[in-house]
Amino acid sequence: MRRKLVAANWKMNGDKATVESLLSEFVQNVDGQSIDAVVFPPALYVGQVADKLAGSGIEFGTQNVHHADKGAFTGELSLSMVKEFGCRYVLVGHSERRELFGEDDALVADKVAAALAADVTPMLCVGETLEQREQGVTEKVVGGQIQAVLDKVGIAAFERIVIAYEPVWAIGTGKTATPEQAQEVHAFIRKQLAGSDESVARKCRLLYGGSVKAANAQELFKQPDIDGGLVGGASLLADEFIAICQAAK
Ligand code: G3P
Repeated sequence: MRRKLVAANWKMNGDKATVESLLSEFVQNVDGQSIDAVVFPPALYVGQVADKLAGSGIEFGTQNVHHADKGAFTGELSLSMVKEFGCRYVLVGHSERRELFGEDDALVADKVAAALAADVTPMLCVGETLEQREQGVTEKVVGGQIQAVLDKVGIAAFERIVIAYEPVWAIGTGKTATPEQAQEVHAFIRKQLAGSDESVARKCRLLYGGSVKAANAQELFKQPDIDGGLVGGASLLADEFIAICQAAK
């Protein structure tokens, strides 16, 4: 009953020619009618992406956004700007933003709230580091990241939020969480949401991210609480991303 969603996070990769060629392949081969497909290019290319994806059924968004609507925030983008270019989604709280750019739970919660207020779907990223997993505090960490947003926006808003569980140790490492490991955390997240509202918990889409590729997508997407994937490296390879989208059907 939850429609599958597969998203491509290109991070800081690509150029105009890559955007053109990848999207030509996606438009021809990704069935935006049976699944939700979303592309997150580097923000400079959003205009090019909007033109290329027009009428394709594939959505797009930015990898980050500021929570204020305008002002003296050098280097930042507002939600009204990303909306003007047709973005329907924004990534919020990716582990690289948290680790490399110091984004904490409170800032992430502000960004989620601002996205919801602008009617842009936030894709909220959560996940534990290897050290935290080894210390046995995965649920505490992931639960805390989600709780910070719950406290800010309330449970009802989670019908309009997509959560991406991305264990930090699986990102860009080629080390995917096993379907069972991923399912375990997804089930935990759904239970956490159900603690506030069961019907919202049933509706909220939970994606897995971390070395998703064509070879492991099907097994991951078969898990009862995994509703799709957030794909980094493999989304820069047209055949891989297309096959991942097919595995979600
Ligand atoms: O947001 C996607 C991501 O962090 C996973 O990256 O390269 O492991 O698929 P990758």
